Amino acid sequence: LWRATKSSLRFASGFLVSPFSVAITKDIDFYSRFSPSPLSMKQFLDFGSENACEKTSFAFLRQELPVRLANIMKEINLLPDNLLRTPSVRLVQSWYMQSFQDILQFKERNAEEKKTIYDFIDTVIKIRNRHNDVIPTMAQGVVEYKDAYGMDPVVSQNLQYFLDRFYMSRISIRMLMNQHTLLFGGKVKVNPAHPKQIGGIDPHCYVSDVIKDAYENARNLCDRYYMNSPELVLEEFNCKYTFTDTPINVVYVPSHLYHMVFELFKNAMRATMELYGDSMEYPPVQVQIALGSEDLTVKVSDRGGGVPLRKIDRLFTYTYSTAPKPDMDRSHAAPLAGYGYGLPISRLYARYFQGDLKLYSLEGFGTDAVIYIRALSTESIERLPVYNKSAWKHYKTIHEADDWCVPSKEPRDMTTYRRF
Ligand SMILES: Nc1ncnc2c1ncn2[C@@H]1O[C@H](COP(=O)(O)OP(=O)(O)OP(=O)(O)O)[C@@H](O)[C@H]1O
Ligand SMILES: [Mg+2]
Repeated sequence: LWRATKSSLRFASGFLVSPFSVAITKDIDFYSRFSPSPLSMKQFLDFGSENACEKTSFAFLRQELPVRLANIMKEINLLPDNLLRTPSVRLVQSWYMQSFQDILQFKERNAEEKKTIYDFIDTVIKIRNRHNDVIPTMAQGVVEYKDAYGMDPVVSQNLQYFLDRFYMSRISIRMLMNQHTLLFGGKVKVNPAHPKQIGGIDPHCYVSDVIKDAYENARNLCDRYYMNSPELVLEEFNCKYTFTDTPINVVYVPSHLYHMVFELFKNAMRATMELYGDSMEYPPVQVQIALGSEDLTVKVSDRGGGVPLRKIDRLFTYTYSTAPKPDMDRSHAAPLAGYGYGLPISRLYARYFQGDLKLYSLEGFGTDAVIYIRALSTESIERLPVYNKSAWKHYKTIHEADDWCVPSKEPRDMTTYRRF
């Protein structure tokens, strides 16, 4: 199923009927040979500092965006043919092709001209909007494929590998585009809603403020759905600076932190409400924030009955949810759960700047979800997928038998051994 197909063939015969197909294929090949350049938090901040130069940012992006796009586009081509043929995946691919071409048009443009810089911002905004629905559309493609062809363990494993990389690439591309438009798009550099932020980055992101905000919004959803909600108990442990009263803060992207904790709160609340049913008292959701010298850790603990160890890995797969499928009609109240993307996407946000997200459960009792964030901004560096031989091999390797014994269902009759 995961046969190698020459991308040129696919483009020529496949989804994009355009006279430029062959030329684009060459451009994609060319740009995919560059590795993406991961930026550190410090580099992001430098782009936005007082003497930040729009031209430098433009020059960087007109090379880096096609590189990141081409790297992931090559990987899309390694998906099973039948998945690539679904209307949803074709649509996603056409967006990527269009955006890739849009950026390439700036290759020959003069960076000294004001018009170039303005046009570039317009193009970036257009691209960002075009890609707004990539996640649900791709998810739809996977559902269409699964309904038509089923899902074997090899395809499912490859799909998980692909989607993690694909969505990570998307997070990173959007981060670059957001920074550029926020810093250089308006007349003033300062974002009136968040004057202290450098684009989307807050040099002093007060962790507990973001957490309280996410809690309130998750609680509103929970109240609407269950008519009640668990309380929040929040504790901070500043283990690095013992003699200061300053609340724990970190150089980070508040919207990313918000996304993660909001998802964890929704999960914790749903588990709690489902377990305690109509009883009018619910154990609170507890959050602990600790700052050490390397890690900033946020633990969200609930007493919602937990998950057995056997199932923990499954919760991070893109096709797993125990919630009933939500109504696609957006006029209904936003559900507390449903697509099964909450955990895997949140883990990508955590990993994007070299952190992580893990789940530890005490089955029968409750769950601890832990977010790890790098405390030092020098260590917060983008984690990006790269298209190379190793990535390629992932899709092509024939999955051989497991190198651990499979326990047999029936216990062996030990009496037979006594004869020897
Ligand atoms: N704190 C928790 N306690 C018990 N089960 C949990 C907890 N968190 C997650 N789960 C289980 O993991 C599954 C996947 O969680 P995930 O957040 O990824 O998706 P979801 O909540 O089903 O949908 P959504 O995409 O809306 O978040 C849930 O359906 C639930 O069964
Ligand atoms: Mg969820």
